[in-house]
Amino acid sequence: MSEIEVTTTLNPEIKEAAISYVKKLFSQSEDSKLIRVLKKESFKRVYKKMVLEPDEFRPKPRPAGVEPWHGNKPDGPRDFLKSKVVLPSLPQVLLQIQQVINDSGSSANDLAEVISKDPKLVASILRLANSALFSFRTEVDTPTRAVALLGFKQAGSLALATVTLSLFKRSKGTSVLEVEKFWKHSIACGVIAQEIAKAADLGDPERFFVGGMLHDIGLYVIFETSASLALEILDLAKQKGDCLYNAEQELLGFNHAILGGIIIKDWNFPHPLVVAAAGHHNPEKARNDPDAGVVHIADFISRALGYDLGGAAVLGKIEPAAWDKIGISGNFFIEKLPEIQDMIDTIFEILNPE
Ligand SMILES: [Fe+2]
Repeated sequence: MSEIEVTTTLNPEIKEAAISYVKKLFSQSEDSKLIRVLKKESFKRVYKKMVLEPDEFRPKPRPAGVEPWHGNKPDGPRDFLKSKVVLPSLPQVLLQIQQVINDSGSSANDLAEVISKDPKLVASILRLANSALFSFRTEVDTPTRAVALLGFKQAGSLALATVTLSLFKRSKGTSVLEVEKFWKHSIACGVIAQEIAKAADLGDPERFFVGGMLHDIGLYVIFETSASLALEILDLAKQKGDCLYNAEQELLGFNHAILGGIIIKDWNFPHPLVVAAAGHHNPEKARNDPDAGVVHIADFISRALGYDLGGAAVLGKIEPAAWDKIGISGNFFIEKLPEIQDMIDTIFEILNPE
């Protein structure tokens, strides 16, 4: 891996292990400027982690008491959803926020009123508005003031994202999904998608933020529905050195992106959010649709930067056409990395499920 610059002070054994880890991680990604930049950053991160948290790279013990998967393929994603799936139920407040956002006649006061009805949402919005993400000079102490300062669109998107993320709870039973990693991945993908949208001047960056936050809802549903199935997916991906969505495709006949699109569509969420989830692993959609394309890239970059769900040895493919369309440099993210990390940590702390 000649493109990785290393200094002589590195431990040669760990260096070798990190190089081979990164090589495998990117094994399905075509060579490009972006990939080279991400590989370099990934090597630095993986090497450091191998030194500081070597346990992260050891095989995890299998959770006790998980039955082997029965192996029955559902008859498509709709059939899967008809079985006993763990599907978060939509809180009333989410529907009301959507109604307000989608109604062109809605005012800032209407949005503040909906937010005010939910004390948890009020607390989160006020914490967000008072956080370092927005440097307002005065303390924001009411939803009305928060909406006025953040603006209708931004406040609406944050409210939508806050309530949605709270749907992804730590499950009570045996769980294969590490919910904290899932949250961080969702937030990272949302933040990076938003930054891409801003840099590429696509307009409406909040829409991309929410699209990124929601994109893996199908994965949450698959993994939380059955620990047996989740382990089977992870095992198959590991055994084949492939990514999770290909393992899902093989075992179920569909992947979490398609399932996520159906769930979000059934919830009557705005169309761009449906496409962002449904198309984030579908190169064809990613090529033609800005929401799918941006979230596809944001998802890849977030995992390459370490905001992954754990368990997958490869990052999968990145659609070159989707990246070319955006027309920004790979270094852009690396330069912005400290700021992006700060944003992810701040949002995570504010919205933490605990
Ligand atoms: Fe995904």
